[in-house]
Amino acid sequence: DWTPGNVIADQVDAIRAQVGDARVICGLSGGVDSSVAAALVQKAVGDQLTCVFVDHGLLRQGEVEQVERDFVAATGVRLVVLDEKERFLTALAGHTDPETKRKIIGREFIRAFEDAARRVVEDAGESGGEVKYLVQGTLYPDVVESGGGEGAANIKSHHNVGGLPDDLQFDLVEPLRTLFKDEVRAVGRELGVPEVIVARQPFPGPGLGIRIIGEVTAERLEILRAADAIARDELTRAGLDDDIWQCPVVLLADVRSVGVQGDGRTYGHPIVLRPVSSEDAMTADWTRLPYDVLQVISTRITNEVRDVNRVVLDVTSKPPATIEWE
Ligand code: XMP
Repeated sequence: DWTPGNVIADQVDAIRAQVGDARVICGLSGGVDSSVAAALVQKAVGDQLTCVFVDHGLLRQGEVEQVERDFVAATGVRLVVLDEKERFLTALAGHTDPETKRKIIGREFIRAFEDAARRVVEDAGESGGEVKYLVQGTLYPDVVESGGGEGAANIKSHHNVGGLPDDLQFDLVEPLRTLFKDEVRAVGRELGVPEVIVARQPFPGPGLGIRIIGEVTAERLEILRAADAIARDELTRAGLDDDIWQCPVVLLADVRSVGVQGDGRTYGHPIVLRPVSSEDAMTADWTRLPYDVLQVISTRITNEVRDVNRVVLDVTSKPPATIEWE
């Protein structure tokens, strides 16, 4: 019988048999897969697991707290948080090319994770333990895809934690390898992973870094984070979360247009709403959101977010457009 409880019981046994009394490390991203994988390993081996969360400063409003506070409270995992916001801003300074930005974020992410992993390994070594295993939230579709993905055109370089250097050799623990996304969510709920994480819509690894069209700066991140929070808030309030696959909110940071607010002329930036409906993100259709919801989002963003004087709707399917703008 497939039940979340049975999957958890089987995986707890399998994880214990695999790792014995060795130490285990896991990189958390704030996403569904790494969170559920970590919760499962925590249930199996408790404090033998150390989770590492690299705060790259590119997450949305409230997401860092969801990991640092809510996830830890719900699961009891031992968590090391690295504030790497400055590292990423410095590395991204002056860059506007989408692929360059993606590569920089991926590279810095791996470096930051490596540094942290090395420290965890050293600390464990001093107390007589050895870190031998790395948890990965690999799902069944990932297993299938990486088997036959050779001919696929490389449209965007995706980033996930992988490719660790030679002096950090881990065996992989992949407790979600046989599961589909819906099953992972069911297992997460059974394990008590917070609903905001379990039910989360897809969000790219490079985060808001690829939703600012132009150079990424602290100020622009603040603008986009505020606009995105309003859009998400109103979509949730309107009960539309289950109708859309995701709704990227994009800041056209290098574009300005003229507006009028109060008695004055403004010269601000446009925000793009990109609501899409999809089965698997390979193709997508733009979602026909109700006009009154769009109206509320537009009014709130232009009233509440400084430097934004225009909200536009992306009405393009995939193909020809991709879901994300970069
Ligand atoms: P595109 O923009 O290629 O996006 O139509 C398809 C889906 O993938 C997500 N996405 C990413 N996910 N790392 C991820 O984990 C990435 O680098 C990345 N880039 C895009 C995107 O949000 C959409 O769901």
